[in-house]
Amino acid sequence: MSHTVCLIPGDGIGPEVAKAARRVIDAANAHIDWLELPAGAGAVDEYGDVLPDTTVQAIEIHRVALKGPITTPIGKGFRSVNVQLRKRLNLYAAVRPVRSMPGIKTRYENVELVVIRENTEGLYSGLENEITTGVVQSLKIATRTACERISRFAFQYARERGRRRVTVFHKANIMKLSDGLFLDCAREVHENEAPDIQYDELIIDNGCMHLVRDPSEFDILLLENLYGDMVSDLCAGLVGGLGVVPGANIGNGCAVFEAVHGSAPDLAGKGLANPLALIMSGVMMLNHLGETDAAARIKTAYDRVLRDADPREITRDIGGQGTTASFADAILRRMELA
Ligand code: NAI
Repeated sequence: MSHTVCLIPGDGIGPEVAKAARRVIDAANAHIDWLELPAGAGAVDEYGDVLPDTTVQAIEIHRVALKGPITTPIGKGFRSVNVQLRKRLNLYAAVRPVRSMPGIKTRYENVELVVIRENTEGLYSGLENEITTGVVQSLKIATRTACERISRFAFQYARERGRRRVTVFHKANIMKLSDGLFLDCAREVHENEAPDIQYDELIIDNGCMHLVRDPSEFDILLLENLYGDMVSDLCAGLVGGLGVVPGANIGNGCAVFEAVHGSAPDLAGKGLANPLALIMSGVMMLNHLGETDAAARIKTAYDRVLRDADPREITRDIGGQGTTASFADAILRRMELA
């Protein structure tokens, strides 16, 4: 049986890395029919909207998407398409596995953690207003429903994957109500539904210090929306940067797979972006679809490319001199050799 997967190339480096990911997934003999959909700056000219309804509807129908990054204007302009998409499809859990990669030298060797981020509320509510000239407010929303749901997701994920520990980073010493509710829910779910999994909490500033001192201390990090966003990039820095960290946005009906990185305007159009993060997101997607053979084939191939570390093949962000295309070619060659 083949699966229809919605492919959103996105903005900036998005189309370049999406093309590479598609080539690699097709070459792994995955049973995928691609349905390319517009979203982001490129969608405005043709469809008059950064997130056309038809794009959201197609994902609702087919339930799975692979998405490139989408640019969000800073300090003005339209609301983030990523945030809109997560809200409209109720993709409440972002899952970002962060692991040390073969051949990529960093300060740390044994990083094997997963960031689980609440994806629908917090300060991303977009509820901001100017109370009076020179005074603005942004509302941080926390609901019991969403806090319980993400806590339950994290503990279930831990159990299904044989993980031992869930750690919440919070700031409930300052945001006593909103982060306090998040903590209450995590504690309750742990006590009532997952007492066999270890659970602990750290105030986020201290948590970040522990993360950069010894990331191998951690297993699953559970965070509300903004903290999850920031800590994901911090964690990417522990294992070689944004070019090597994949992600999934999971809801009850749909799943949208995307890299942690953004549209990297500094690299766009130059063919220099690392495609691996989106390819790894594609591997997560294939596993989600039950296409486990194709997923394993791709993972084995890119691990080989990284282990061989031929600088002509890999991109600059991880010490090479290659291009987006040369990286994809290298993965294709290792798959053929297997
Ligand atoms: P960014 O992740 O695009 O770039 C940060 C740095 O990492 C840049 O130096 C960039 O060159 C590098 N980088 C990112 N991806 C890379 C890759 N695949 N290979 C090699 N180097 C890579 O973050 P930035 O600059 O803060 O945001 C740019 C735009 O992306 C903004 O409009 C932001 O809103 C958007 N964004 C979109 C996301 C999404 O669609 N899920 C996620 C994060 C940001």
